[in-house]
This record gives sequence, structure tokens and C-alpha cells, in this order.
Amino acid sequence: MTTTSVAIASDHAGVALKGVLVEELRTLGHEVLDLGTNATASVDYPDFGHALAEAVAAGRAERGVVVCGTGIGISIAANRHAGVRAAVCHDATSARLAREHNDANVLALGARLIGEEVAKECLRVFLATDFAGGRHTGRVAKLG
Ligand code: RB5
Repeated sequence: MTTTSVAIASDHAGVALKGVLVEELRTLGHEVLDLGTNATASVDYPDFGHALAEAVAAGRAERGVVVCGTGIGISIAANRHAGVRAAVCHDATSARLAREHNDANVLALGARLIGEEVAKECLRVFLATDFAGGRHTGRVAKLG
């Protein structure tokens, strides 16, 4: 797998899974930019979704990972930024198709919905899969 710089952020509901994913990213040899949160105290997921999206949009990381309870709220925040395509994924197939069809650059995961092993598999597949291009290119352009 090619080494990729990956930014990661979560709210309190996702902080434990974020820790697991940071470890997995480092084990795989990726460069990690951890934008918090780093405690279980309650925080607002938009703050972390916006911070992550700003990092990806500014080129401080090639890909991003956001984690909250469902993956939904934090992905909505991230998707408000130009050039960011965050996809909530629940399994390897959704992670693969988010890359192949949507050229997603941010993986969103729900810590209250999926287990650690499934989350790690989503992460590995998301980082290892290329955009398919072809008929998907114009569709993704329309997302901009
Ligand atoms: C926090 O309780 C929860 O609302 C948040 O983690 C997320 O699931 C929102 O979409």
C-alpha cells in the first residue's frame, strides 16, 4: 500500500475508535495528523468535522477520517467544505464503492454502529482503493 498522509478527527462518541484507527494507520505506515478530540468530555461534532475538512481542503493531508456516534453528523459538517467528499461507510463494500464511484476523500464511521474490526477493514479498503474514473468522472465533477 502506498504511504498516505491521513488526518483524523472525532467527537467524544468516536474518540475510542479514533484511537484504534490511529494505531492501525501507524501500523500501516501512514503519516497521521490527529485533530482530536482526545478525551471523553462532551464536545460538538461540527467543530471536529470542520477542522478535519479544512485540513484536507488545504492539502495538509491527502485523505481524512471522521468518527462520531453514527458518522452522520460529522460527515455533514465535513461535506460543507469545497473539495471534500465525505462518505459514511459501514462495511468494506461501501468503503470500496465510495472510492471507486464517488472519489470520496474522507471516510466517515459511526463508532456506535460498527465494531473495531469492521472499522479497521473500512479504513484499509478506503486507503487502498483508487477512483475508477470513466463514467464516474463527470458525475463527481457535478458534486463540486
Ligand atoms: C453525540 O451524542 C452524537 O450525537 C454524535 O456523536 C453523532 O452521532 C452525531 O451525528
